Amino acid sequence: MAEAKKLYIKTYGCQMNVYDSERMAEAMGGAGYVETSSPEDADMILLNTCHIREKAAEKVYSELGRFRPLKEARPDLKIGVAGCVAQAEGEEIMRRAGLVDLVVGPQSYHRLPELEALAREGRRALDTDFPVEDKFDALRDRPKAKRGPTAFLTVQEGCDKFCAFCVVPYTRGAEISRPAARVLEEARDLVGRGVREITLLGQNVNAYHGEGPDGGIWSLARLIWALNEIDGLDRIRFTTSHPNDMSDDLIAAHGDCEKLMPYLHLPVQSGSDRILKRMNRSHSAESYLRLIERIRAARPDILISGDFIVGFPEETEADFQATMDLIEAVNYGYAFSFKYSPRPGTPAAEREQIDEAVKSDRLTRLQSLLTRQQRAAQDAMVGRRVKVLFEKPGRLPGQMVGKSDYLHAVHVRESTLRAGDLADVEITESGANSLAGRVCLH
Ligand code: 5AD
Ligand code: SF4
Repeated sequence: MAEAKKLYIKTYGCQMNVYDSERMAEAMGGAGYVETSSPEDADMILLNTCHIREKAAEKVYSELGRFRPLKEARPDLKIGVAGCVAQAEGEEIMRRAGLVDLVVGPQSYHRLPELEALAREGRRALDTDFPVEDKFDALRDRPKAKRGPTAFLTVQEGCDKFCAFCVVPYTRGAEISRPAARVLEEARDLVGRGVREITLLGQNVNAYHGEGPDGGIWSLARLIWALNEIDGLDRIRFTTSHPNDMSDDLIAAHGDCEKLMPYLHLPVQSGSDRILKRMNRSHSAESYLRLIERIRAARPDILISGDFIVGFPEETEADFQATMDLIEAVNYGYAFSFKYSPRPGTPAAEREQIDEAVKSDRLTRLQSLLTRQQRAAQDAMVGRRVKVLFEKPGRLPGQMVGKSDYLHAVHVRESTLRAGDLADVEITESGANSLAGRVCLH
């Protein structure tokens, strides 16, 4: 039997890219490839790229440059670029980089084996179409390996909201939802392979409106209730959501659905109504705050996380203060914050830009407030008993690491635990980025 060829995938960006990279590995499995963790012994290197913020394309070119010596030493090494930079700049990458053999966008990676074959024949291998066939369907019957206790599952993709700063509607295309039966089938398969926690993914996951097995249209809440019925699945999460799609049934599910975890990522971006309008967000700071109140009424202990952008065009000190006020009012348990970065092709990139030094100063102040809140939320866990799903051994002997219901990393010293165990833990310490505790036996 011929020895398997080796595939090295490097993933950038969001969780959806992590999911896509796994699917790409499965697709290439069909073409005789197995994954490797070192580029040096790979027959094919694939960069799964992200275009959301700063210098995305430059990073790809410099990473490609690092692979140049490998390619020169072994000319039959194939190098591919996938993901959102591939979608946005495919032709340019082929032209500029010289050493790239294939380019594939996020909606066409099920065609990777054909592209690889074209590249081997020295032919042009670029596919950034939004094809009519469904990549998920095309990949359905690939052989699948045993899995760890947590997994991502893409249920919705693309976005029709066109926030003025964001490339996603251009790179991932229009919003589509996978049929509920397909999602349930994939979830059951994951559980059969050892998965106990599933995070449903979508750029606008709470806008999910997939075809239901009953012929109707299912909301995300309806889908979560169906997943709740799967034996062996213990935890359900979803990310990332838009405030305007937080429907009543989804809010209620946070109170009633026992497997839905008390953690919600709900980006607001800014606390200034003037900036929100310029961002084309179609919600106000006030409507967001009311929404948070309703979610907390349904699930009082829910941990809220968010995304923020500082230095969006026209943002004044007063606008920035409004964001700080909103953060004070919400009290976030976790957050991601960024300096605005003009993305080519998006409306806000054409506007007059804020000075870099002003952006940096605002980001520092914003992050110090968010870090304080995050720290307080983590410290408040000390003395509490929380459920932890253990994922892997820690760095110290006998140590295991897992995640609490609230997504905090938790360490324990308990040598009898295995990955996939779900246990009650009493939290005894709050460290820099994680909690420590001991397993409760009763
Ligand atoms: N500049 C800075 N941050 C951005 N994000 C999206 N586009 C940009 C941009 N052009 C942030 C938003 C979004 C998160 C995924 O990335 O906060 O919620
Ligand atoms: Fe981008 Fe999210 Fe806005 Fe869609 S809703 S355009 S993915 S920030």
